[in-house]
Amino acid sequence: MKKILISPSILSADFSKLGDDIKRLEESGADMIHVDVMDGHFVPNLTIGPPVIKSLRKYTKLPFDVHLMINPVQKYIKDYSDAGADIITFHPEATENIQETITLIKSLNNKVGISLNPNTEIDIIRNYLEKIDLVLVMSVYPGFGGQKFMGEVINKIKDLDKIRKNEKLNFQIEIDGGINFETSQTAIAAGVDILVSGTTVFKENNGDLKKNIKTLKQI
Ligand code: DX5
Ligand code: ZN
Repeated sequence: MKKILISPSILSADFSKLGDDIKRLEESGADMIHVDVMDGHFVPNLTIGPPVIKSLRKYTKLPFDVHLMINPVQKYIKDYSDAGADIITFHPEATENIQETITLIKSLNNKVGISLNPNTEIDIIRNYLEKIDLVLVMSVYPGFGGQKFMGEVINKIKDLDKIRKNEKLNFQIEIDGGINFETSQTAIAAGVDILVSGTTVFKENNGDLKKNIKTLKQI
């Protein structure tokens, strides 16, 4: 039976109590913490950067699954690694040289992910799939939590799953945006390994994190 991992997005947490919320997520069964970094340029929203991540590091041993929605990205990557990021995921549109960015992230001993927006095809990263640890498939246009799931990305997940099976690649597939108790099942059936969820984890069942994480994991 495939193990589904949950990476709750702290975009939906209480930003005045991020440390406490991260501790609660760990106690509630989260497998990693999805940290949405937004620069107000690559996406029309601004969240947190390295100093905040550094201060959050001591609140949990869980991996920080850092989603960099920033452009340019390359020159800031070491700051996120030094702040305590474990997985560093970037958008291909935010770098001049995808291979160089992958090499840099790996040189810092971090896992490397690439994120595909709904309108970004697999082709743009086809030659790098054997070199990365994770593909983060966006099922919303990045920038905000609480958006509606875009079902058209399911075929992209199926294609990625087929490629990795045929070519014996071991990148993981993570999905991000509009993941609730229904869409999670569709995503899992299509081949997803990791579910990012903010609104559903923090808001459903009166904010019962443990119950929401457990329900999302159920296949
Ligand atoms: C959107 C972020 C997502 C978002 C998910 O740009 O990348 O991680 O926070 O939030 P929900 O689960 O509320 O759609
Ligand atoms: Zn994200």
